[in-house]
Amino acid sequence: MAARRRTAVLISGRGSNMAALIDAAASEAYPAEIALVLSSRAGAAGLDRAREAGIPAAAIDYSGGQASGEAAIEAALAEHKIELICLAGFMRLLSPDFVDRWRDRVINIHPSLLPAFAGVNTHHRALDAGVKLHGCTVHFVRAAMDNGPIIAQAAVPVLEGDTPEALAARVLAAEHLLYPKVLAQVAAERVRVVNEICVFSDRRREIGGPTLLYSPPGL
Ligand code: GRF
Repeated sequence: MAARRRTAVLISGRGSNMAALIDAAASEAYPAEIALVLSSRAGAAGLDRAREAGIPAAAIDYSGGQASGEAAIEAALAEHKIELICLAGFMRLLSPDFVDRWRDRVINIHPSLLPAFAGVNTHHRALDAGVKLHGCTVHFVRAAMDNGPIIAQAAVPVLEGDTPEALAARVLAAEHLLYPKVLAQVAAERVRVVNEICVFSDRRREIGGPTLLYSPPGL
């Protein structure tokens, strides 16, 4: 079996997507290993969850500004021989230099069907816009926020009477299914970027293709 790709997860808060990745990577057959968790906030609940799983986890000190924060991230990535980075609720924009150095080796999950609703408050904005399908996207990271080649998306229905919280919960359940499938594709080198569009090498898409239609139980 090919060596598992050493992967860091960058978080800022509760880390439920990080936990989904850790759970998936607990299987030896999974092509990525979660080898490091970094948080932009010292109190992030996700740090405890990572440590409970025996994964090195640290808060990054951004108090000296973006450049010194990113230098600390780079040092930790080098120390732990990291090859891939998953952003999972990481609330800092990475600098263009950092993104260039790690081009096509950083992925992010965003709670909307991009390019719709980049930025924050996606569930409120989806309800205000009256869309009937909402969801989440995993994409390779580029310097602009929530921008970059789309690897995969999961769509969830917007239901009559939905609140932002109810919709967020339905999307989050889809995120937890989608992100581990996408990391597996990326770690196994089954996806590549051609002219800023993602192309999958395995047409059979055995471990989950680029789309996932998620239905809540009972729908
Ligand atoms: C998720 O909705 C993710 O899509 C967004 O931030 C949220 C993070 O939640 N980027 P968690 O920390 O993974 O629970």
